[in-house]
Amino acid sequence: MPTSPTHTILVLGGYGFFGTRICQSLATNQSIRLLIGGRDEDRAKRLALELGLAPDQALAIDANAADLAQTLAALRVDTIIHTAGPFQGQDYHVARAAIGAGANYIDLADGRDFVAGIGQLDALARQRGVFVTSGASSLPALSSAVVDRYAPRFHQLTSIRHGIASGARAPGLATMRGIFGYCGKPFSRLVAGHHETTHGWLDLQRHQFAAPVGKRFLGSCDVPDLALFPARYPGVQTVTFHAGFASASGHLFVWAAAQLVRLRILRSLAALVAPLHRISQHLEPFVSDKGAMFVAMEGVGVDGQALSLEWQLVAAQNHGPHIPCGAAIALAQKLAGGEELPHGAMPCMGILTVADYLAALQGFDVREIAA
Ligand SMILES: NC(=O)c1ccc[n+]([C@@H]2O[C@H](COP(=O)([O-])OP(=O)(O)OC[C@H]3O[C@@H](n4cnc5c(N)ncnc54)[C@H](OP(=O)(O)O)[C@@H]3O)[C@@H](O)[C@H]2O)c1
Repeated sequence: MPTSPTHTILVLGGYGFFGTRICQSLATNQSIRLLIGGRDEDRAKRLALELGLAPDQALAIDANAADLAQTLAALRVDTIIHTAGPFQGQDYHVARAAIGAGANYIDLADGRDFVAGIGQLDALARQRGVFVTSGASSLPALSSAVVDRYAPRFHQLTSIRHGIASGARAPGLATMRGIFGYCGKPFSRLVAGHHETTHGWLDLQRHQFAAPVGKRFLGSCDVPDLALFPARYPGVQTVTFHAGFASASGHLFVWAAAQLVRLRILRSLAALVAPLHRISQHLEPFVSDKGAMFVAMEGVGVDGQALSLEWQLVAAQNHGPHIPCGAAIALAQKLAGGEELPHGAMPCMGILTVADYLAALQGFDVREIAA
């Protein structure tokens, strides 16, 4: 007999690129009453219809609305999943509204300061008895789960270098606005024990991924892990993150544009984001549908010998875009299943294991290559 849903989850940005994938997964959970929110009610309604939900499960909601807390309370939202980025430069209005309404809060943020600063809501979230987490996505939820898994093999972990090479399918505009926002702009990272300055999408490298992905160009990115990992893994001397596009020529185009921003010939790539997004959608059939993530760790093993390990995750059939959704899905399922998650506000680290994360991606062409 079907059970009646007991846990109400609102996905804000629910018909966006990642929001849609999260909703598709959560709509199949009988314990969840799913609400799809965004500023465009028609788009929310179209997705609700596709997923077999009732029309009143699609809502026009603006993340910036002053009365958001009252709206969440009126809808009796138990958990909100916030995907309405970009998060770079956002404040914690949505998280505060969730806490005010007594709801748990999960976001997919990839903004370094945004994720690293979520702890400022800790006391408020504890008082209200809710779970608040930021960065429930590939970074830092999955990346830190991988490092946590291998850390016990090290007497001293000294270096964490990680990266993502995407497949052909371009993410949504919010993601592209976020990642191109720091294109050519300086930011700091820890290398060999010193804070050094690098620039967004520069520091060009090639990384060898497992077959069938092969070698991909990567450029440096400003991500939460650069701030979070040095504190989480004491004694670590190097933390870097690089990402790259499926098309080598597309990647080199972004690299060249980043040089122009660095040299102040261009002010930013903001104006190019929408056209680049359209172009990448047109080029999708001609570009590799495979993508991958790596986490390379170095240090001294528990036996006192030098140790280096590399973990990879390889996605095919353009299933890579499901990966950033794994953490929000896994956490939502735990909450809907009545599992207690810690009260307070924290970056999404130490809450999910790699196995928890990958379980949420079952059915997709995503293959782990353990170290
Ligand atoms: N941490 C990681 O590893 C990681 C990896 C990948 C992506 N991400 C994050 O995922 C986020 C979502 O990316 P995406 O590719 O899914 O973007 P997207 O397709 O542009 O989706 C954003 C959604 O938010 C909605 N939205 C925007 N402003 C809103 C507002 N004020 N109120 C309510 N809804 C609003 C949009 O709909 P309307 O405009 O119609 O309202 C849209 O549905 C990105 O910002 C990125 O930070 C994180």
